[in-house]
Amino acid sequence: MPTMNSALKALFFALVQLQAAEALDNGIGRKPHMGWSSWNVAQCNSASAKYAIDTANKFISLGLKDLGYEYINIDDCWTTRSRDGNGKLVPDPSKWPNGIKPVVDQIHGMGLKFGLYGCAGQQTCAGFPGSDGSKHAASDVAQLADWGVDFWKYDNCYTPCLDNPPPQTCGRPNGNTKTWYAPMRDAILAVQDKHKIHFNLCNWGRDEVWKWGAEYGHSWRMSTDNWGDWASVERIGSSSAAISGYSGPGGFNDLDMLYLGSSKINADQERIHFGLWAIAKSPLVLGLDLNKISDWTLGIIRNKGIIAINQDSLGKPATTFTPPGKQGPVNGKIHPYWAGPLSDGVVIGLCAGTSGGTYGVSFKDVPGLSDSEYSWEEMYTGQKGTGKSISFDIKLHDMRVIKVTTTPRKIRGSTAL
Ligand code: GAL
Repeated sequence: MPTMNSALKALFFALVQLQAAEALDNGIGRKPHMGWSSWNVAQCNSASAKYAIDTANKFISLGLKDLGYEYINIDDCWTTRSRDGNGKLVPDPSKWPNGIKPVVDQIHGMGLKFGLYGCAGQQTCAGFPGSDGSKHAASDVAQLADWGVDFWKYDNCYTPCLDNPPPQTCGRPNGNTKTWYAPMRDAILAVQDKHKIHFNLCNWGRDEVWKWGAEYGHSWRMSTDNWGDWASVERIGSSSAAISGYSGPGGFNDLDMLYLGSSKINADQERIHFGLWAIAKSPLVLGLDLNKISDWTLGIIRNKGIIAINQDSLGKPATTFTPPGKQGPVNGKIHPYWAGPLSDGVVIGLCAGTSGGTYGVSFKDVPGLSDSEYSWEEMYTGQKGTGKSISFDIKLHDMRVIKVTTTPRKIRGSTAL
């Protein structure tokens, strides 16, 4: 007879296992995903085979594949306006003349991955067929698996609403978002032995998705859209700090696509946008036309040091801290001081979010560091140094991303700190 104690223990472990079985932990998404998405390029018009293949070629010719950019993701509008007689999604023949599969095969042949977009509601946000909760989830996933699709972004339009029929964006949802994301999560879990799919929840941060997202998907949008302007960078970037603790390997806060290369933000703002998304461990998903990218923007998205920080195996986002005597975070504004752990050090982000000037810190005031000398490297300017503090002149809306190394360095055979 088991004692009460051992019976309780058995129950506890059974519950833990149940929880683990429910979580979408199928071994992928251990690092923030990197890639490109069609939406910001030309909305519906860029959801085509031509854009997918052109972008895949650009990933190779621009050296992006070698830097880790991997997913070619097609967003809304890739299907026809209605399902076929068997309830299947139909790729729009004017955009996918040979269907989806040959495109996926070609992209896989280039060593890259391919993603598609769907919606938990009756229709996608642009009015194409949605999976409608459990109605089409299993059959849609079977279709994705047959095609070899690696990534599925799942939107939140026309979902159950107290207003009937549900509008595109419901102000009075009829239930928690989880309710309509669960059938798709379960459908993806059910095919995982055959084909693993990265599940990206796009519920725009509703219902505090960061608290439960890891049980449902590999990444989740934590805000409404990045509209590409400075206000969006401020709104999304600043709000990532408070929820950083929920993000980690297997489940990351998704700060939305990188809106670089448009004229909506200036050159310095592009650096803070990329740098902040990277240290917050957001997926790095390019939302721009790679045929039109400038050398400046290319330099930013190809910054090896910042990419390495984003892809660090620890997967822990940076968050804000306040050195003694400095003002604490202000809601909706980008705080100047950010830090986060890395597997071999600490990343410090210094952001001139509200005014240009001199920004610096003593390492003893930085979470994870102490009153010691450290080697550091700034990733945008390439400056390097050793010491107990750092200081930079930073222009308004620009950023410095500093990696401080804490692991012992080998010096001529011996170990030094
Ligand atoms: C929005 C989503 C965008 C884009 C768009 C397509 O809901 O947040 O990222 O996917 O739908 O219609």
